[in-house]
This record gives sequence, structure tokens and C-alpha cells, in this order.
Amino acid sequence: MTKTILRALAGETLPTPPIWMMRQAGRYLPEYRATRAQAGDFLSLCYNSELAAEVTLQPIRRYGFDAAILFADILLVPQALGADLWFAEGEGPRLSTIGSETDFAKLRHAGDIHDTLAPIYETVRILRRELPQETTLIGFAGAPWTVATYMIAGRGTPDQGPAHALMAGNEALFAALIGRLTNATIEYLSAQIEAGAECVKIFDSWAGSLKGAAFDTYATEPCRIITQALKARHPGIPVIGFPREAGEKYEGFAKATGVDCVALDSAVDPAWAAAHVQVDGCVQGNLASSHMVTGGQALVDETRAIVKAFSGGPHIFNLGHGITPDADPANVQLMIDTVREGVHAG
Ligand code: CP3
Repeated sequence: MTKTILRALAGETLPTPPIWMMRQAGRYLPEYRATRAQAGDFLSLCYNSELAAEVTLQPIRRYGFDAAILFADILLVPQALGADLWFAEGEGPRLSTIGSETDFAKLRHAGDIHDTLAPIYETVRILRRELPQETTLIGFAGAPWTVATYMIAGRGTPDQGPAHALMAGNEALFAALIGRLTNATIEYLSAQIEAGAECVKIFDSWAGSLKGAAFDTYATEPCRIITQALKARHPGIPVIGFPREAGEKYEGFAKATGVDCVALDSAVDPAWAAAHVQVDGCVQGNLASSHMVTGGQALVDETRAIVKAFSGGPHIFNLGHGITPDADPANVQLMIDTVREGVHAG
């Protein structure tokens, strides 16, 4: 029997939506914090294949999610291209910056990322051996725009200002960086698929700050190129696109890019998305992650409303963004029980 996530991605409407959760392996879980301490720090955990596989499996063991997402980070690609990367404790990522042609010229070529990323492919191989047979393994990468925002600023930024400034001030350099990242992402995801990833997700977390033609050129088009290249190399591989906070640009995104599923953030009204996005295929989402902190009847009501709104078509239940470290693991169980209650009620 085909795995439920793969059936939904193929366009099947299931009686109960399959479920997984962004950042399901993370700091809200005590077992994650213990393994991270064992690894030393976050990046050492990413590059330790045995321990990265272990933290990927932890939420599967605890909750029985329908999918596991490879434990890694979108910023490993810049590192493999030659950028310096470190995580300042409690402050998030820091990178060396790209501001000039000289900086860009120091980057490696897309085909030269695999030596650095080999441990990630090994994590994928371990997971394919160890995951339960009903669990789908999802690989992932950041979208070129989102990764570029970190490479240009050297850190996370509230409005992606430095990236917008480079786009306006030196569009040739900006476009060259997007092109390099597009090619590197194809190489990286292709290697994950060869190692055993059964689906891949492209995270464009900052797509919402691109408007109009800039969205089409730097969010839609790179996603289309990556998706087409992956499907040419690996026929039938399902792709999930996540142009977070795209607003009305969610409409038509699947058709324009060829992705099999569009992941929705929690600002999107499910009834609107059912009519305007799910008409083109599978959707994923979109419970606000704050419910994992607050719990209670509001969590139950909102979960039921999302399941109902998307019940007429293919749907994978998820949060609208990653679960936060202050979440209560019991609220995750409540969400899962609520999604699956239809089945339990028989
Ligand atoms: O369980 C999973 O979802 C798989 C692993 C995963 C991580 N990061 C692990 C991680 C995935 C899919 C990501 C994607 C990612 N990384 C994105 C896109 C999704 C999104 O959240 O918008 C982005 C923008 C990043 C970059 C990144 N990594 C930032 C900005 C930070 C610091 C902020 C934070 O949450 O601490 C990270 C660190 C990170 N990546 C953690 C984890 C579990 C926390 C690190 C820790 O353990 O201290």
C-alpha cells in the first residue's frame, strides 16, 4: 500500500489527512535537547549522520507522524559553497556576507558542494533503513531567495533589507547569486533523492517580502527551474513548494512552478485556499504554531476547521510555520488526536 503522504501528493483525497509538523525535531522535545548536547552544538548535530538520523526519528517514535523530515538546515548550502557559517548561542545564524563581485567570485561552483554535504546524504541513507515502512522521508532545501537573504545580510533580517538593496543596486550580481543557488539546490536535492528522499520541500520562508514582478522572477521562476530539473532527473519525484506569506500569489503557484503541493502559512484563510489553491492539487497546512504553546479548546476548534475546509481535496495537515521551542509536547499530541479523531470515532 502506498504511503499516505505520497497518496495525498499524487492528488488523492483521503478520509483523514496525513500529518507531519515543520521543525518536528526541535528544542520543544527534551530528547532533542539531550542529543544536541551530546553532539556539542547545532551544526555538529547536522553533520553527525548517526545523531541527525536519531533526532529525525525521535518525533516519529513519540507521535507516529506520517512523514519524517531530514534533520539538516537550509544554511548548509551556503556553507558548502564556501561561506563561513556559525550559530551564535541564542542569536540565530551568522554568515560571511556577499556584497561585491569579489565576494561572489570566492564561492564554489554548484557541482562542488557534495564533499561538504556528504554526511547529510548519509543521514538520508540511514533514515531509509530505519524509518517505519509507512513513514515518508522528506528531503528539503531553502529556496534561492530565502538563502540569498541570509548570505547577503550575514544573518536573519526582519525585512530582508540588505537583499532588496542589492537587488536594486546591483541586479546583475544579485541575479548571479540566485542562479548559483538555483543550480546548487538542484544538485543538493538531487543527491538527497538518490540517497533515498521520497519527496522534497523547497522552503521560501521570506517569499512574502517579494512583490509583483520580483516575486515572479525571484520566487516563482527559481522554484520552477528547480522543480523541472528534479522531475527530469527523477521522474515522478513529488515536490512541495512553500512560498511563505505569498498571500494572493499562492493562487496559480502550483501551475506556474509544477510543484505537486503548496504549503500554506497560517495567515491564509482555509476556505479561500480550498477554492483558489487546492483546485490545482494538494495543499499542506496551516494551523498557527502558537496553538502548540496555548493548546486547549481553541487548538481543537481551529484544527477541526482546517481539516473540514480542506476535506474536499488532497490535504496534508501541518502547521503554518515551524513549532517553537516554548511549545508543550502535549499540545502536539492533542493536534494529532484531533486530526485523526474521525478515524478513531470509526
Ligand atoms: O524538523 C525539521 O523541520 C527539520 C530540520 C530543519 C531545521 N531548519 C532545523 C533547525 C529545517 C527544515 C529547517 C529549515 C530552515 N532553517 C528554515 C526554513 C523554515 C523556516 O523556519 O522558515 C530557515 C529560515 C532556517 C535557518 C535557521 N536555522 C534559522 C534562522 C535558525 C535559528 C532560529 C531558530 O529557530 O533557532 C536555525 C536553527 C535551527 N534549524 C534549529 C533547528 C532545529 C534550532 C537550532 C538549535 O537546536 O539550537
